[in-house]
Amino acid sequence: MNLRKRIFSGVQPSGNLHIGNYLGAIANWVKLQDEFESIFCVVDMHAITVPQDPETLRKKTIEIAKIYLAAGIDPKKSSIFIQSQVSEHAELMWILNTIAKMPELEKMTQFKDKTQKGGSEGAAVGLFDYPVLMAADILLYGTEVVPVGEDQKQHVELARDLAKRFNQKFGETFIIPKAFIKEEGMLAGRSFGVGGRVMGLDNPEKKMSKSAESVYNRIELLDDEETIRRKIKKAVTDSGSEIIYSDDKPALKNLINIYAAFSEKSPKEIEKLYVGRGYGDFKTELAEVIIGFLKPFQEKFNALSEEEVLKILADGAAKVRPIAKAKLDEVKGKVGFIV
Ligand code: AMP
Ligand code: TRP
Repeated sequence: MNLRKRIFSGVQPSGNLHIGNYLGAIANWVKLQDEFESIFCVVDMHAITVPQDPETLRKKTIEIAKIYLAAGIDPKKSSIFIQSQVSEHAELMWILNTIAKMPELEKMTQFKDKTQKGGSEGAAVGLFDYPVLMAADILLYGTEVVPVGEDQKQHVELARDLAKRFNQKFGETFIIPKAFIKEEGMLAGRSFGVGGRVMGLDNPEKKMSKSAESVYNRIELLDDEETIRRKIKKAVTDSGSEIIYSDDKPALKNLINIYAAFSEKSPKEIEKLYVGRGYGDFKTELAEVIIGFLKPFQEKFNALSEEEVLKILADGAAKVRPIAKAKLDEVKGKVGFIV
């Protein structure tokens, strides 16, 4: 009998994953998989809530799975699967749709942000309903802990509310999940204190993001060496020429955090290393530190064949489907469906 608590998390197969995604999310999952029974999903059904090119979506879905694997998520310890391959997610979502309320969804900040950017007239009903699908993802598996970024906290709250409402109406059915927001400043399992998120290379006031317009905002996990060197060279820095780790120098602080996260060094040690040397040396060596991590990562990524990854994903789906089916049948019975 497995008594470990279950965690569930997912990433959408859209955009290009960057070192912020790795340090802030995936590296932490790799650590959590030893402590929890872990399910990691590629949420392709969430991705199509905004228009996607089908061929690109297919490619990206396999890419995300390869990134999980290359980063160290071990299919022997964790289940990795594609959301659309377990149809129970869509079915449970429909039932949850009948207890979710319009105003609850209207107040979701992600929906407001996304419609602000794209214009609300063009927004799909699926984009509005996105958090209910996420609730279904979580509740199907009796998930206790959901490791996500701060931005997803509101969605996990909705999953909690829907679980409680369903339980009240139809009797104890769902475990009430908790969001696990990594301690602020945790990168790759190490603490960087307040403000330890990875910020944009072009703007240290905003976090590094898949959707930032300029590619000079981020180092992508699949960037080649020359691109990494170029992006680091172009990264904004603060005034002055000394390498000092300080809140007054947010751009430099971000670069030192990245340096520290990818090396065994602390920010203080890095400061010492560059006493009497300038930004030029620091940036050149920072690029090499990042390359030193990404090169073996990319080698693992490239060594994975599509066939092999599809097999791991199919095995993952086969492993989780019985859990999902049992919960869905229970729910169907409770609402009065004949199962
Ligand atoms: P997103 O790229 O917004 O889909 O986020 C996927 C995961 O990566 C979430 O768990 C985020 O918290 C994490 N993440 C995204 N951007 C950053 C960043 N710049 N720094 C740290 N973590 C991040
Ligand atoms: N909405 C999440 C994001 O964009 C991805 C996601 C979908 C998810 N379903 C989930 C995360 C269930 C945790 C649990 O980051």
